[in-house]
Amino acid sequence: MIHVILSGACGRMGAQVTALAESRNVKIVAGVDVNLRTDMPYPVYPDFSMVKEQADAIIDFSRPEGLHALLAYAREKKLPVVLAATGYNENDLAAIKDAANEIAVFRSANMSLGVYVLKTLCARAAAMLPEYEIEIIEKHHNQKLDAPSGTAVMLYDAVAGENSEAVYGRHGRTQKRQPHEIGMHAIRGGSVAGEHEVGFYGPGEYITLSHLAQDRSIFANGALRAALFIAGQAPGEYDMGALVEGL
Ligand SMILES: NC(=O)c1ccc[n+]([C@@H]2O[C@H](COP(=O)([O-])OP(=O)(O)OC[C@H]3O[C@@H](n4cnc5c(N)ncnc54)[C@H](O)[C@@H]3O)[C@@H](O)[C@H]2O)c1
Repeated sequence: MIHVILSGACGRMGAQVTALAESRNVKIVAGVDVNLRTDMPYPVYPDFSMVKEQADAIIDFSRPEGLHALLAYAREKKLPVVLAATGYNENDLAAIKDAANEIAVFRSANMSLGVYVLKTLCARAAAMLPEYEIEIIEKHHNQKLDAPSGTAVMLYDAVAGENSEAVYGRHGRTQKRQPHEIGMHAIRGGSVAGEHEVGFYGPGEYITLSHLAQDRSIFANGALRAALFIAGQAPGEYDMGALVEGL
């Protein structure tokens, strides 16, 4: 059993991780959240400087705004981190890369094993069908803040070529689709846990590869597996490829 500090503990994903942790051999020893809740089964602090508990790793399901304080704490304590929040900017990504010189950093915009398989299959399809036009459609619940989803961006990176250009929706466009475009479309509504579809459109046929998240436990499960994997790893950047395929 490893001991973990959970950042974003009081959010929706924090609740999922908390519910599954013990069954996955992970003990949450403390939480960090700017929005404190009192009914958590472990102490929750408004920032990392107040955490007293010893841990083997940190799981982060908060927001990019919390990243820099989290990395500073992890570096100081030499703790591996699992970064599961999405919406990082260039500055955040540079800070993550820098931290990985000193600590093990596992990051994936989607912690589901199925999405990792989807990404791998999409990269293969794009390589086999270079003339086909690609469109990515994602659907999420009405509380999601960022668009396109981090997973859609990850899928874009998996299929994009050197000259590809992301086109976000086509509102107001008056010219036909260019071959190098990759359309990105975000649908928001209801309680959809997450759906991603990558379509490869050719002359006279098209294929679609898709993944449907039936509930959010898949992300919690992946993050807990990632924490077990990363505890004790050497400094560096790790992702689902390392976890699923040992890449
Ligand atoms: N990688 C994945 O597989 C995956 C899956 C689902 C969600 N996510 C991402 O995880 C994050 C959380 O998602 P959610 O649905 O649980 O959101 P949420 O809004 O329900 O929870 C986020 C929690 O983080 C807290 N928080 C916000 N800023 C903070 C800060 N600076 N420091 C500490 N805590 C802070 C909030 O108070 C809240 O309790 C989002 O970025 C979301 O896109 C990733």
